[in-house]
Amino acid sequence: MEIVSCKVLRNENIKELIYEMELYAPEIAHKATCGQFINISTNDNAMLLKRPISICKIKENSIVITYRIVGNGTKKLASFQIGDVVEVLGPLGNGFPLYLNMHCLLVGGGIGIPPLVELAKQLKNNGNKVTVLLAARNKDLLIYEEQFKDADVFVMTDDGSLGFKGNVIDFLNQFSLDFDILYACGPTKMLQALDNRYQGIKEGFISFEERMACGIGACYGCVCKTKTVENGYMRVCKEGPVFKLGVVDYES
Ligand SMILES: Cc1cc2nc3c(=O)[nH]c(=O)nc-3n(C[C@H](O)[C@H](O)[C@H](O)COP(=O)(O)OP(=O)(O)OC[C@H]3O[C@@H](n4cnc5c(N)ncnc54)[C@H](O)[C@@H]3O)c2cc1C
Ligand code: FES
Repeated sequence: MEIVSCKVLRNENIKELIYEMELYAPEIAHKATCGQFINISTNDNAMLLKRPISICKIKENSIVITYRIVGNGTKKLASFQIGDVVEVLGPLGNGFPLYLNMHCLLVGGGIGIPPLVELAKQLKNNGNKVTVLLAARNKDLLIYEEQFKDADVFVMTDDGSLGFKGNVIDFLNQFSLDFDILYACGPTKMLQALDNRYQGIKEGFISFEERMACGIGACYGCVCKTKTVENGYMRVCKEGPVFKLGVVDYES
């Protein structure tokens, strides 16, 4: 896996603390699949580790990433200007498997929503019916409601400031939704609740996050315990970040 130097085409503040960055990266765009991520440098010598960020949109010669400022690394990313050059490793990890002619339920929580944008587009192109649940703590943290064209979109917030009041499980308890395949990305608690509810019942995939270092499977810094392999751990950057329902042991 080679490090690619990418030019910043734009880096915009789209909501409080949330930014969208487009990078000129033909090598990555031509290979990337939905649900993969990149490891991006902060261009700061004091921060050696690159930061893992999911790919939100795959264009002809560029990719779009969306990130929330949570610490020094992401704060540094937000300072990048158009024309800056940044070192990127990617595309990394395994992505979401794509199906044909199914009813797909996509569930995104908070900053887990962006990778579902490309996924919804490609599922739609494959003839699937797409239903999307978008959840956040409040309306200021809910993004991309308008990006899911041609899908049935339901919005919910914990505090009721936008859409249904409650989390995705409250919503699913109240409205019976029938679907074939589940795809989810968001906070661990949300993934765990969905996994518990649907494993063994539905086909489905969750995108799991762990702190990362190398991002390419070499350091074992990102392992998570799994239920499917005896005493087994898997590398989130290599065997993940997308796992089938029933694989991740959230209690470890
Ligand atoms: C596969 C993958 C895809 C990701 N995609 C996105 C994305 O599309 N958009 C986005 O905003 N963020 C994403 N993240 C999380 C992002 O990598 C971290 O927020 C970022 O590395 C934090 O760097 P920092 O230096 O700003 O914060 P730090 O100072 O390193 O940490 C600040 C806070 O964030 C927490 N944190 C840091 N890294 C992670 C992590 N990997 N998982 C969970 N919590 C973490 C820390 O525990 C701490 O509480 C992804 C993470 C992974 C593993
Ligand atoms: S981050 Fe090094 S193995 Fe995953």
